[in-house]
Amino acid sequence: MVKHIFLIGFMGCGKSSVGKRLSYLLKQPYVDTDDRIEEKEGKKITQIFADEGEEYFRQQETEVIKGLFDAKQPYVVSVGGGLVLREKNRRIIRKQGICIYLRATANTLYERLKRDTQRPLLQVEDPKARIESLLEERSAIYESCADRIVDVDGLDLPQVAELVRRAFEDEKAARRQRRMETEEIQNRSEQRKNGKQILVMHGPNLNFLGIREPEIYGTASYDDLVAYIQREAEERGLMVSFFQSNHEGALIDRIQEAYRDHTDGIIINPGALTHYSYALHDALASVDQIKKIEVHLSDITKREGFRAQSVTKAACQAQIYGKGFAGYADALDQMMTLLGFEKNS
Ligand code: DQA
Repeated sequence: MVKHIFLIGFMGCGKSSVGKRLSYLLKQPYVDTDDRIEEKEGKKITQIFADEGEEYFRQQETEVIKGLFDAKQPYVVSVGGGLVLREKNRRIIRKQGICIYLRATANTLYERLKRDTQRPLLQVEDPKARIESLLEERSAIYESCADRIVDVDGLDLPQVAELVRRAFEDEKAARRQRRMETEEIQNRSEQRKNGKQILVMHGPNLNFLGIREPEIYGTASYDDLVAYIQREAEERGLMVSFFQSNHEGALIDRIQEAYRDHTDGIIINPGALTHYSYALHDALASVDQIKKIEVHLSDITKREGFRAQSVTKAACQAQIYGKGFAGYADALDQMMTLLGFEKNS
């Protein structure tokens, strides 16, 4: 879809002159909705208003911007001051491009328009009061329709054109970024749809993280660890669930349940059971369709001698230790490889 740039704002805010300059800067052709209508009708807008009425004119405006759907290249479009007052027109604009509001105060507008006799809505006794009341009616609509706002008071044409150009580029970049983020989320939910389930298990005393031996395990709690793993999993588009128990049998029961609920991967920190639980080893070994990674917060090879040995490790595809919380992020990465996922980053 061709992305036009639409300039909106009250009459006299500089849409036409800024639009022409922008057309030159961006090398995009320029169109003014008022000019298009005048050309098509063969008369001035004041005359169209007088002959056919405002409603007819508004209908012509809709036709002009609808016609831009067929454009072969992006245009700079200067939009009549009242065009965006119609919800339908706002929708058409939103679908086709980026909308920038040239915002001016009533004073600035009055100074620019006071000698203008071509604006049907201002041919009244007190044009300043008319500008103020129209602006009050319209400014919220202009603002809500705009992707970006440029304040034009006190600025000359080249300054405004430059600000608009930058606003346009910024908006394009922001949209690109949003698109990439959306695609990433879609990719992740694709992976979720694959339904891979990872169970993170913790054995005895790990619920006491933050309380137990902080000089070894740190001050962060078990809940902090769960939140950390959850975040890391989300970043990778993975679904994780958690289980912690201080009881060997409960851990074994949960591993057997994992077999029945078709869990794809288990990341397990068995705590001290690591060093002596053949029963836990057997439970892990009996579910060989589930990928398993053993994790320890501390470096079990550099502590008391009994910790250096892991009887559960033989039933797992990998073992990670000594990296604190980060060991679980590594485990998620390794699990993705084991499960045949492409990494996101
Ligand atoms: C631990 C190391 C084990 O030796 C100890 O019994 C634990 C925690 C770790 O994460 O470093 O409970 O598994």
